[in-house]
Amino acid sequence: MLKIASHFDPVADVVLFEGDCLDLLRDIPDRFVKLVVTSPPYNLGKSYESRLDLSDYLAQQRRVIAECVRVLDEAGSICWQVGNYVDDGEIIPLDIALYPIFTEFGLHLRNRIVWHFEHGLHASKRFSGRYEVILWLTRGDAYTFNLDAVRVPQKYPNKKHFKGPNRGQLSGNPLGKNPGDVWQIPNVKANHVEKTIHPCQFPVELIERLILALTDEGDWVLDPFIGVGTTAIAALMHGRRAIGAEVVPEYVAVARDRIHRAERGELRIRPMERPVYDPRAARVIVPPKIVRIETTAG
Ligand SMILES: C[S@@+](CC[C@H](N)C(=O)[O-])C[C@H]1O[C@@H](n2cnc3c(N)ncnc32)[C@H](O)[C@@H]1O
Repeated sequence: MLKIASHFDPVADVVLFEGDCLDLLRDIPDRFVKLVVTSPPYNLGKSYESRLDLSDYLAQQRRVIAECVRVLDEAGSICWQVGNYVDDGEIIPLDIALYPIFTEFGLHLRNRIVWHFEHGLHASKRFSGRYEVILWLTRGDAYTFNLDAVRVPQKYPNKKHFKGPNRGQLSGNPLGKNPGDVWQIPNVKANHVEKTIHPCQFPVELIERLILALTDEGDWVLDPFIGVGTTAIAALMHGRRAIGAEVVPEYVAVARDRIHRAERGELRIRPMERPVYDPRAARVIVPPKIVRIETTAG
């Protein structure tokens, strides 16, 4: 049975701390975690957060980021997943606002991953927001990156070189292709099998890909804002250990329950390999016609 600790414990499988992440981080030794992956409060006035001035928000985030950098392994990564801060109809991309904080701490940006999804609020005075961003940064140049663990199927797996010394051989990697830096993964809204009481939980598959690529078995994964425990579930599914904090007791209870159900094999999770449903694929496409505008000869 999994050992779930409620305070820092280096021999637990999971640490679920109920309280402010800075109080948990204080107890974590330097260089202890291989990956920090999180979606911090967005400053968008959700039920669990009081809306802050942007500069106060960034100062608050800076304190958490400083601690995350301290506990990060030499070969480790930080993945900070954020959307846009919307102020009076104007959007401020939070990844752009946060980027200088990470570079100040000497981290190196490896990818700015665009997470594209289909569901969300319908805007009427701008295009509806349908992506968020993951800033993936590393402490150094010798970082863990297991590309083979996250390859996706080639579009044309049997395509061969048609000339040159490799003529006749497969042109693509038979293990699959690099998934790229634009990821289409459904977000967790009402119909999603993973939906809980949380208003903005991660889909498990989003975190699985990061964990498989950026950690090895047995590594610790930290989520300072763990919500209903999605990061812990993704970590445990792949033989990693997880540590996280959450201020709302109801979310901690849901996280604990989800972990127990995952352990018993009873938690419904959308599989990573499942293609995204595309309603356009079922539509009959009618070829376009030229529109003739009648002109009267002058
Ligand atoms: C965007 S949500 C993260 C959801 C999470 N990714 C999941 O899949 O459930 C941010 C979470 O941070 C929590 N939170 C806000 N301030 C916090 C703090 N200082 N320490 C720990 N958790 C905090 C909020 O209650 C909220 O659940």
